[in-house]
Amino acid sequence: RKRFEVDRQRTFAMIKPDAYRNIGKIIDAIYANGFRISKLKMSKFNADSSNDFYGEHKGKPFFPTLQSFITSDVVVGMELVADNAIDKWRQFIGPTNTQKAKQDAPGSIRALFGTDGTQNAVHGSDSCISMKRETGYWFGGDAKARAMKTTAQLNN
Ligand code: PPS
Repeated sequence: RKRFEVDRQRTFAMIKPDAYRNIGKIIDAIYANGFRISKLKMSKFNADSSNDFYGEHKGKPFFPTLQSFITSDVVVGMELVADNAIDKWRQFIGPTNTQKAKQDAPGSIRALFGTDGTQNAVHGSDSCISMKRETGYWFGGDAKARAMKTTAQLNN
């Protein structure tokens, strides 16, 4: 391992359907705040893939709302690299609910680009285990991930 790689960590981040139109500003903010993008893939969730990706939230009262929102349009999944990337990204995006983000973290991504508790602009892995699962799902060889629509298929 090279010296500069010590302490580097990866996280999985996602720009949600409501914030896709702001992708340029969000990518500028990502680089301006010390992250590097190591992988990026645009795709679209369907019922099956959203069930898989958000499986841990199935059965929660907000799940139907989350599912209809996240399948409503394209999303962009990214692997980000930074020192302490998982916590750093969660801190940078702000609280889950955009209203709270606007109050408590006015410069955060969710405060700037989100709308409410459902349309909250971005996702970030909450742990190392989630990061590995989500990155593997989005970029890896999982058959279900491969079955997700690719950019070329989005208009079909
Ligand atoms: S929990 O129960 O504490 O684990 O939930 P939380 O961490 O707050 O949120 C988990 C993900 O569900 C999304 N969420 C919602 N989506 C739509 N509508 C409502 N009301 C809602 N509440 C929570 C939340 O944005 C989290 O998604 P990600 O993609 O991880 O940000």
